[in-house]
Amino acid sequence: KKVRIIGVPVDLGQAQRGVDLGPGALRYAGIADRLSGLGYQVEDQGNLDVPVRDVLGGEREMHYLPSIRRVCDAVYQAGRRAVEDGFLPLFMGGDHSMALGSIGGVTHHEPVGVIWIDAHGDFNTPQTSPSGNIHGMVLAALMGQGFPELVQLGRIGPKLQVSDVVMIGIRELDPQERQRLKESGIATYTMREIDERGMGTVAREAVERLEHVSRLHVSLDLDALDPLEVPGVGTTSPGGLTYREAQLLMEIIADSRRLASLDIVEINPILDQRNQTAKIAVELAASLLGSRIL
Ligand code: ARG
Ligand code: MN
Ligand code: MN
Ligand code: MN
Repeated sequence: KKVRIIGVPVDLGQAQRGVDLGPGALRYAGIADRLSGLGYQVEDQGNLDVPVRDVLGGEREMHYLPSIRRVCDAVYQAGRRAVEDGFLPLFMGGDHSMALGSIGGVTHHEPVGVIWIDAHGDFNTPQTSPSGNIHGMVLAALMGQGFPELVQLGRIGPKLQVSDVVMIGIRELDPQERQRLKESGIATYTMREIDERGMGTVAREAVERLEHVSRLHVSLDLDALDPLEVPGVGTTSPGGLTYREAQLLMEIIADSRRLASLDIVEINPILDQRNQTAKIAVELAASLLGSRIL
């Protein structure tokens, strides 16, 4: 059992400053030691090279598309290599735009089921996005819609099929994004569904929907949790998952024994209280990788 930690300090996919500090926050919260304590061999490969936006003035109008593409290319290759080397890659964001590279890379050799845990759909296209922020377009791009530079990243064509994705924790969609998501046929578990049916039922059903793939990737956007519990995220949305619900979700995914890769994204230490968001993220990662109460 080997984990490779890959830091991706990218904040170009959104407007708020501070998400680039996520990898440091997770390291200071002790992610490597926590996972070694579970019996994993942990290798931290450091951070990938990401330009700071302060030197990219000319890309502002383009919402940093050229740099995001370059960063995601490097993430893609790092993910692909980690899988080839027999590691479980753990990608530390950075904003959610890096998932284009991580999910692209881990699906290079075979399809992977993706559990997208997020308050948002990240299912905008350049035409439907009110903000223009690329972190809000990444799932659409993975499925073949949006900027060609992003859709064709790493290899030609879509990286994910509709049946390979489930979304959990959704509660905030832009008007056209909402329409697009409804029409997409993606299995989506909104907060209402979780409130009504309970996380245990929802999580088991979500994992069952991905029975046809042998490997699972979790893309954990920390804004899926309630901002009262994790204040250190860039795009907060009230009414989110409790810490307990998130823990249960991680444990049920872990029970499948098919977890093969993980993104932890959107932590913003500048907006946090004493690094508690990263500490919670470390505990969630530990559960996902098999930590048990008893
Ligand atoms: N829907 C909004 C947008 O397109 C918010 C996206 C938030 N995404 C995220 N990864 N936190 O800008
Ligand atoms: Mn997101
Ligand atoms: Mn989000
Ligand atoms: Mn614009």
